[in-house]
Amino acid sequence: MSEFAERVVAWQTAHGRRGLPWQGARDPYRVWLSEIMLQQTRVATVVDYYARFLRRFPDLASLAAAPLADVMRLWAGLGYYSRARNLHACARRVVTEHGGEFPRDAQALARLPGIGRTTAAAIAAFCFDERVAILDGNVKRVLARHFGIEGDPRAAAVQCRLWQLAGELLPPRRAMRAYTQGLMDLGATVCTRARPRCEACPIASNCVALRTGRVIELR
Ligand code: ADE
Repeated sequence: MSEFAERVVAWQTAHGRRGLPWQGARDPYRVWLSEIMLQQTRVATVVDYYARFLRRFPDLASLAAAPLADVMRLWAGLGYYSRARNLHACARRVVTEHGGEFPRDAQALARLPGIGRTTAAAIAAFCFDERVAILDGNVKRVLARHFGIEGDPRAAAVQCRLWQLAGELLPPRRAMRAYTQGLMDLGATVCTRARPRCEACPIASNCVALRTGRVIELR
């Protein structure tokens, strides 16, 4: 395992976010729902919505069978309502085209409505231990700082380099869950955009941005 991955995994186990209702779940329905809710909404807000949603729609079949209006009502207040429309469309698609079971790899998951490359990878890593990279805004920042990647993170060449790095750093399958969650947690709680806590970072000793005084510049 790369030293990078080893440290992220050890840090997640000791200091990452623990005990959240969707963590430890292997049911793709639950993991998918949490990842969609967490895309644009803070963890603290998602917790209540997630519980309420699961009470009304405990499984994929109940969600697919419901009228869209019921889904929208439960989503009210979470914002970014295309997520709710896509959620419903995705549930129906899984029922009609996949026999009611989510596909078990990131490539197939990414073809479903509302599931982008990173969400597909998160579901595949958390549920099926697939060795596949995530690269959301937080992870881009962690990698750009750690490896001193210059340039606009939205530029195609920079994205390409970051995806390549993210793929090279992946640990073996058995560590994929802790590693994936660890990268997310590190970006959200330590390697933050405006106030990074480098003193608490498990990979600070190899961080190019920290060594060259560019932590705030690279974000
Ligand atoms: N944001 C997106 N996915 C997340 C997860 N699994 N845990 C915390 N924040 C997230």
